Amino acid sequence: MKNLPPVIAIDGPTASGKGTVASLVAEKLGFHYLDSGALYRLVALASQNASVDPQNGPELGILAKKLAISFKNGQILLNSEDVTEAIRKENIGLRASVIALHPEVREALMSVQHSFRVAPGLVADGRDMASVIFPEAVLKVFLTATAEARAERRYKQLIAKGISAKLENLLHDLQERDARDSSRGAAPLLVADGAKVLETSELSIDQAVKTVLDWYQSKAA
Ligand code: DC
Repeated sequence: MKNLPPVIAIDGPTASGKGTVASLVAEKLGFHYLDSGALYRLVALASQNASVDPQNGPELGILAKKLAISFKNGQILLNSEDVTEAIRKENIGLRASVIALHPEVREALMSVQHSFRVAPGLVADGRDMASVIFPEAVLKVFLTATAEARAERRYKQLIAKGISAKLENLLHDLQERDARDSSRGAAPLLVADGAKVLETSELSIDQAVKTVLDWYQSKAA
């Protein structure tokens, strides 16, 4: 374990901004970046395309093991098709939180996630990075914000992309996903032992990034 590259684990609920913060921290440190939610979204999309029942854990596990996934220059490819935009749709996010309930799916994605741990280091974002995938992470952050602040951020993102959205629907979907992600038996979303909580409702992205970098420097020192 001692010689493995360091990992910074950043977990948190949907739309907490952890993806933005984690990728900026990775960029500043020159580390690799793992968006583990994208993997669950890829399984969700593939299962939808293949008409696999989102309740069928064993079949989803088989599908997840067979997926040809690659991350290249900011693009996400599934069986050589660019699905970068397709996996960000709200219905795929909701489906991802349903298929993520199955231990077979979580197990199938384990080795892909471990394979991202490459020198000089990794920033991994998700729900169970600190608790299950990288329990020996040097720094564990639980990044969160109120449901209202998160719904508003998601709303602004969608409107900026020219996608119409209703704030109350977004808030409802987000609370539904929070409840499912937190209450499931397999690797629930939780504040891991030793994790530092970063409440970002009142913070800018720069302030959140700086806080994580300061925490990392003090751990690394
Ligand atoms: O972070 P995200 O919104 O892209 O994640 C989509 C869904 O994937 C989320 O609702 C739950 C699931 N997920 C998970 O179960 N474990 C992870 N490490 C990352 C995501």
